Amino acid sequence: MNQKSTHPAPRAAIADPALVRPDRLAGVPRDPDAAWLDKNENPDPELSALIAKIAAGLPGHAFYGYPELAPLYQKLADFAGVPPERLLLSAGSDGAIRATFEAFIAPGDVVLHTSPTFAMYPVYCRIYGAKVHALEYAPSNDGPALDVETLVAAIEKESPKLVCLPNPDSPTGTVFSPGDLRDIVEAAGRARAVMLIDEAYHPFYPETAIGWIEEYPHLIVTRSTGKAWGMAGLRIGYAAASEELSALLHKVRPMYEIGNLSAAIFNGMLDHGGAMMESVNRLEAGKALFLNAMDDLGFRTLRGQGNFCHVSFGARSEQIHTALKGHVYYRENFSEPCLEGFSRFSSTTPEKIQPVIGRIKAAVGD
Ligand SMILES: Cc1ncc(COP(=O)(O)O)c(C=O)c1O
Repeated sequence: MNQKSTHPAPRAAIADPALVRPDRLAGVPRDPDAAWLDKNENPDPELSALIAKIAAGLPGHAFYGYPELAPLYQKLADFAGVPPERLLLSAGSDGAIRATFEAFIAPGDVVLHTSPTFAMYPVYCRIYGAKVHALEYAPSNDGPALDVETLVAAIEKESPKLVCLPNPDSPTGTVFSPGDLRDIVEAAGRARAVMLIDEAYHPFYPETAIGWIEEYPHLIVTRSTGKAWGMAGLRIGYAAASEELSALLHKVRPMYEIGNLSAAIFNGMLDHGGAMMESVNRLEAGKALFLNAMDDLGFRTLRGQGNFCHVSFGARSEQIHTALKGHVYYRENFSEPCLEGFSRFSSTTPEKIQPVIGRIKAAVGD
């Protein structure tokens, strides 16, 4: 019998044609000899060498053994200043963000997030069938702008189930001051919302809300090891929250939160917090060098927070994009009005940014 078959229907949110993901087969590997300044990683050779040394010294059971994560929870607790009962390890901070949606968002729940922001917030809203309330950054002379009053008023009006706010936000590089952030957290509390503060860029931006989890039972703070720690490929992040919220996040965790190899390397790296901070300082120095050079060339720059910055090359754009092609990966432009005309460059060391500056100078005949 030649019966025409069809696949079973997924749940409604997954069937939505608006839920589109990047083509898994279309990606082209980046040239290792080019400068990788497109994904806000940390390409500092000194830090990478330390990570590689730790990886090279790992015993066989780091590979063949299933993860045993209790010692890492303890060590991370000491590093982050948060009791281990309040932590969740995750596959990138992305994993902790997804766990938050998984634990709290049912179809029709309102989720409030900024726009533009980390790409997965709108995606998880679709996957979990949330009703999105996106708050747009407006263009201004100082770059993307969104005031605390607007955010607080939106929380009061929309009664969201979840408020997601990277601080610093990406790709905008904007931050809310600790005072404003508290107003937002408290407005979320009054609305009975879960408040997720995404600190992927800690400690490039040193202010943190992680200590506030003692005060606010509705607060989740997520962090990444893909930025400052230089371990984006290992996919490790974590969430910190009240014991009650942490317990809920642990209910939806996978069999193992992170791989054993990742856990072993992170465990080793936690003995080298000083080396991570030195690397952060090197990247901050590289960022300042780049921004000063771009200012000297007369380009408009945005000195936002996080290991990235923005430059508008104006009438010289085409010339410069052509000169950097094949040598530097970076985000050429944005469709969002608040960043229109800007290119984004991730931070790297002074030694590695110098040739990039050189190419830009040569392209404009300086
Ligand atoms: C604001 C923000 N949050 C989360 C992430 C995800 O980071 P991870 O690599 O830890 O999943 C990123 C990555 O670019 C980001 O920019």
